[in-house]
Amino acid sequence: MSATVPAGAFPSCPSLVGTAPARDGGSMYLGRMAEIPGRHVVLIGLRDIDIEPLRRLRPADWSTSQDWPVEPSNAQRYGIWHGQRLVGFIQSSEETDPQFRHAGIDIFLARGSQGQGLGTDAVHTLASHLVHSGGHHRLVIDPLADNFAAIRCYEKVGFRPVGTLRQYQYDFTTRRWRDGLLMELLADALPLHV
Ligand SMILES: CC(C)(COP(=O)(O)OP(=O)(O)OC[C@H]1O[C@@H](n2cnc3c(N)ncnc32)[C@H](O)[C@@H]1OP(=O)(O)O)[C@@H](O)C(=O)NCCC(=O)NCCS
Repeated sequence: MSATVPAGAFPSCPSLVGTAPARDGGSMYLGRMAEIPGRHVVLIGLRDIDIEPLRRLRPADWSTSQDWPVEPSNAQRYGIWHGQRLVGFIQSSEETDPQFRHAGIDIFLARGSQGQGLGTDAVHTLASHLVHSGGHHRLVIDPLADNFAAIRCYEKVGFRPVGTLRQYQYDFTTRRWRDGLLMELLADALPLHV
């Protein structure tokens, strides 16, 4: 499943000004929106008109917040685009305390876009951006301990398991806490290509 860009819409986003070329001949992108090209996907700073499509695309257990993704947050948020299709969401959050400076990544892909290498490309693209443009030396990511596709995807980008985060994430369906896996990537382990 994926969403197409609503043609002709111009998102209201008063904090951002300016315009950039249309990607699909219809929708305009705001000039100061980040656009980070990967090998197969492009990460584009989240726009208002991406929010409803992404709410429909997100896996049910990915975020239970009613307000997602507009709740207050210091995260940098991007839509993941494959060609003209919005296929997922990725974000980075930075710890800015100089003593512990690092960044974390979260991602989901629409179900129909999984298993084609797009997640690996998106994570590699954002990780490369955080290391090369953001100057980060260390990145972290925290999949559920039994999310083997995610763990394999992150390993391909150079993340290594650090340890189990016991009873880390609450599952509102089963009403149980689930273990997570803390994974980290040091900048010199980031591959040039994946
Ligand atoms: C996790 C996710 C981002 C990965 O992106 P993706 O595009 O599906 O992953 P890729 O196709 O790039 O790579 C997946 C890898 O995992 C492997 N894999 C898939 N299922 C697997 C399983 N059950 N066990 C082990 N490896 C598995 C694939 O074979 C592939 O590895 P390979 O290229 O060496 O063969 C995506 O599947 C997703 O959004 N899932 C739902 C939400 C989610 O879990 N988000 C992450 C929260 S931390």
